[in-house]
Parts: sequence; structure tokens; C-alpha cells
Amino acid sequence: MSASERLRGLRIVVSAGPTYEDIDPVRFIGNRSSGKMGFAVAQSAARLGAQVVLVAGPVSLPTPDGVTRIDVRSAAQMHEAVLAQLPADIYIGAAAVADFAPAQAASNKIKKTAGQDTLNLMLVRTRDILADIASHAQRPRLVVGFAAETDHVEAYARGKLQNKRLDLIAANRVGVSGSGFESDDNTLAVYAADGDSRVLGPAPKTALADDLLELIAARLPA
Ligand code: CTP
Ligand code: CA
Repeated sequence: MSASERLRGLRIVVSAGPTYEDIDPVRFIGNRSSGKMGFAVAQSAARLGAQVVLVAGPVSLPTPDGVTRIDVRSAAQMHEAVLAQLPADIYIGAAAVADFAPAQAASNKIKKTAGQDTLNLMLVRTRDILADIASHAQRPRLVVGFAAETDHVEAYARGKLQNKRLDLIAANRVGVSGSGFESDDNTLAVYAADGDSRVLGPAPKTALADDLLELIAARLPA
């Protein structure tokens, strides 16, 4: 069966982009994510006939054709928006979710004072959307994560695959030129829970998205 025969009509939820964690009304903690990979995945899935919901952090990208988009800002908002989409057939977590957020955003702009050399910010852990989806009572049939690593890519990615109980994880090396964040091209190493692995690319993110959807469709449990 082709990918479009397998995916047609399925509900696929994709997260994409960064999250912004507000410090005060004018400042936030963010991360380097353009959202391009997740948007490309959503676009490919919609072209294959799936019903796609894209939960997007703050990005400047057009909504892919045929995709329902929900915009969020923080990790907490993304967690709520993604879990509200269950039940779903497939979850693909391409967002770069903040791991820590200010315990509380200040309601007024934080001012520096004369002679102040340091500022301490108390950050608290955010909830892990991907792990919560994968261990949910309404777990999608296939849960796919991404991993951005600067080093020890395979070991860290396989660790996340196992700890978060994922079916697949797509890892990429970041911090090297021509790959990862703002770039249009990327290389993905995809690891499966059964031990299989495949390298996709280097290729434009749109082509990688098509290849990843092929892998996902082939692995979808009946
Ligand atoms: N993720 C998530 N919720 C979080 C943190 C991460 O859903 N609060 C998801 C990401 O969308 C991605 C996967 O977990 O699919 C891996 O993200 P990554 O940042 O590489 O891994 P972490 O588990 O956060 O570990 P670390 O940042 O310490 O490497
Ligand atoms: Ca992280």
C-alpha cells in the first residue's frame, strides 16, 4: 500500500516551531527554531490526504494548504493545545519546546538599578508534551519525536526514544553549518523502537518531510 493509501483520512497532529517563555511584558526566553521542518511535515501529510492539525509556536511561516493551524506561544499553551487534539492516529512532535520557563512572568517591565551587575531568573521545568502523549490513555497509534543534538546524536536520540516510549525519533545534528535550525536543508537519522535506523538526506526539508511520512506510513500498526 502507498503512503497516501495508508494515511488518507487519518488524524495527524504535528507540533512545530519554538516556544516563547515570557519573563516580563517585553522579554522572553526562546529557542532557535524556524518551524520549517514541522510545517513541511504538516504539508506533506495533508498532501497525502490526512486530516492535519498543526500546533505552531511563534513562527513567520504561511499555513500549509489544507492544514488546520492552532497558534500558541508558551510550552504550557502548546501542551494544552496538543493534548486537546486527542484522540488522534499519529503525533509528530517537531516543536523545539522550552525545557524551562520563568516560574512567573513579571507583570511590569523588570528595571535594572544603578550598580546592578547580575540578574537571577528562577526557571522551572516545563511538562514534556511528547512523553505525556506517548503515555496517554488515548495514545496515538504512532508517536514520533525529533531530537536536536550537538554531539553523541545516536546515543541521546535512542535514549529519548526509549525513555519517552516513542515509536520513531528523527535526530539531527545542530550547530554545524548547512543543517538544523534556520536552514532549508537537513539530514535526519531516524531510529525506530525495534532497533531499525535510516538516514534521510541531506535534502531540502520538504523532501525530508515526504520521506519521513513514507517511513511513518510503512510503520503504522494496523
Ligand atoms: N519535547 C516535548 N516537550 C518538552 C520538551 C521536548 O514535547 N517539554 C519533545 C520535542 O518536541 C522533541 C523531543 O521532545 O520531539 C525531543 O526534544 P529535545 O529537546 O531534543 O529533548 P529533551 O527530551 O528536551 O532533552 P534535552 O533537551 O535535555 O536534550
Ligand atoms: Ca529540550
